[in-house]
Amino acid sequence: MAEHEYVAERLRSYEAESSKRAVGRADRAGRRVDLPQTAPVRLGDKAPDFTQVSTQGPIHFYDWMGDSWAVLFSHPADFTPVCTTELGMVARLKPEFDKRNVKAIGLSVDSLFRHSAWAHDIAETQEVALNFPLLADADRKVARLYDMIHPNAHETETVRSVFVIDPKKTVRLIQTYPAATGRNFDELLRVIDSLQLTDGQKIATPANWKPGEDVVILPSIRNTEADKLFPRGYKELKPYLRITPQPND
Ligand code: BEZ
Repeated sequence: MAEHEYVAERLRSYEAESSKRAVGRADRAGRRVDLPQTAPVRLGDKAPDFTQVSTQGPIHFYDWMGDSWAVLFSHPADFTPVCTTELGMVARLKPEFDKRNVKAIGLSVDSLFRHSAWAHDIAETQEVALNFPLLADADRKVARLYDMIHPNAHETETVRSVFVIDPKKTVRLIQTYPAATGRNFDELLRVIDSLQLTDGQKIATPANWKPGEDVVILPSIRNTEADKLFPRGYKELKPYLRITPQPND
């Protein structure tokens, strides 16, 4: 089957799956895929560890992370248009991830062979080399561990999941996007900035906050303590809503 026919077939499959709820689970090659119910990973959970093959060799997740943060993200399939732009975007944002001590790692339930062939297309069309590992999760080991297959959306392939994991291996952010919607990676960086800023400080970031903008003081902090912690002062709109300039800015 020519590549463009294969891609068209995969996209048709998404359309078909959104209008039917099949009972049997078979992948495109007709192989049975067993997807036992997995416990969902939730915020605050320990991120499941795993070993899986990738475009940069076998990855033992915790060792690979070391003392970094990680962004683990899945996408539905290789050689598809939205995924191609997403992988190009993540590769282009590598300096931003590096600045924040974050390592990115992608996943789809395709083979290493297909990943390697697709990497050429990404370099050609997105004008950036794939500079982070892409897990070849053909046996769906990691997809299952992280509950990335939502059978009522697609029976056998991953949705667009994102997990931000901190250096203690705790899950700090979970996003789930549908297949037809490419993710906003600026938003992902914004959340990482918020997590890294608010960790260990008595603050939170308000709606649509961007680095450098005012933050809010945690309601658990009394004014007497806030006076000491926030020497630049704060505006009290309500006892629970106190706004202060971003610390360390
Ligand atoms: C894509 O990545 O382009 C895509 C994948 C699955 C369904 C629709 C689009």
